[in-house]
Amino acid sequence: MRAIVTGVAGFIGSHVADRLLARGYRVLGIDDLSGGFRENVPAAVDFEPLSCNAPLDDLFKAYRPDAVFHLAAYAAEGLSHHIPHFNYQNNVLGTVNVLAASQRAAAGHFVFTSSIAVYGHPTGGGAFREADACHPCDPYGIAKLACEQQIRAAHDYFGGPTYTLFRPHNVYGPRQNIADLYRNVVGIFMRCGLQGEPFPIFGDGSQTRSFSYITPVAEAIAAAATEPAAKNQTFNIGGDQPTSVAELATAVAEVLGVERKIATLEPRNEVQHAHADHEKAARVFPEALGESVELREGLQRMAAQVRTAPIPSPTPCPAPIELPARLPPRWQ
Ligand SMILES: NC(=O)c1ccc[n+]([C@@H]2O[C@H](COP(=O)([O-])OP(=O)(O)OC[C@H]3O[C@@H](n4cnc5c(N)ncnc54)[C@H](O)[C@@H]3O)[C@@H](O)[C@H]2O)c1
Repeated sequence: MRAIVTGVAGFIGSHVADRLLARGYRVLGIDDLSGGFRENVPAAVDFEPLSCNAPLDDLFKAYRPDAVFHLAAYAAEGLSHHIPHFNYQNNVLGTVNVLAASQRAAAGHFVFTSSIAVYGHPTGGGAFREADACHPCDPYGIAKLACEQQIRAAHDYFGGPTYTLFRPHNVYGPRQNIADLYRNVVGIFMRCGLQGEPFPIFGDGSQTRSFSYITPVAEAIAAAATEPAAKNQTFNIGGDQPTSVAELATAVAEVLGVERKIATLEPRNEVQHAHADHEKAARVFPEALGESVELREGLQRMAAQVRTAPIPSPTPCPAPIELPARLPPRWQ
């Protein structure tokens, strides 16, 4: 079996590549290194430092992938309000290009990492379910929903490739970029803790998320192309333990053994509580979800890795700010 993984130098993509190699796939990885690191790419991967917006036909046709795992994206949700043109160009047109190249290379299956950002603000008060209506409230979520719809429409019109769409949330763990100012709250807290800086929190920290350790997420994604019950399906994937950002700060400080210092920032306009129901994924990927890891344990594993690795220099904003109004001062 041959797989192509985009975003292979990134956090989730590198773990998915590991899991695919363990399953016996040959893996070709693509990444433009705009947000990932060459060191993340597993040694056995054939690596091409390429943008998803580049011409891909020659490469894809030569590799003849059985499955394409499209994980590359610029994923800073809050910042996407301020760089909408870049967001759609990179995330929507990049996906359209990768999907079309996959179709022309007769790839059998297409796996895409969407996000629970497609749901927008919760309407019923409970956890998001896959059948819920989607009302994304930022360009990142709108782009993810557009990609999902493009993948479904291409399948329905052309008859293939089959697809699996994952909607992960708040994934963390070893190899996550801890030097990105605009996303990855766990990583931001870890870097601040290691460098003796206060943890930046927008508002009072009462917003809650269910933080998701990487292993079950990566394993379910890697299993998708060979799992018959995952064909043409959409899955929420991630953790089930609601935690406030303030509680997360306490947990990270304790795990790192540092004083908990907070820098309170102006609240930003964001979803206050975002949680997803995983009953469907648990039914289809019982082995993967059996690998789930509790928050303290996951933070300890991540801390063990970030303590031993050099802290990268800050990841630059990938594009000039297009709409500076309401840009949080910390992001200027
Ligand atoms: N981490 C999360 O909590 C989370 C939650 C929901 C969805 N996702 C999605 O999962 C995927 C992986 O996220 P991640 O957290 O590993 O992010 P990441 O930034 O670590 O990895 C993304 C990778 O894609 C690469 N990339 C970006 N644009 C590219 C382009 N045009 N061409 C080639 N490579 C490009 C980056 O260099 C990076 O290595 C993304 O699609 C993201 O939207 C992540």
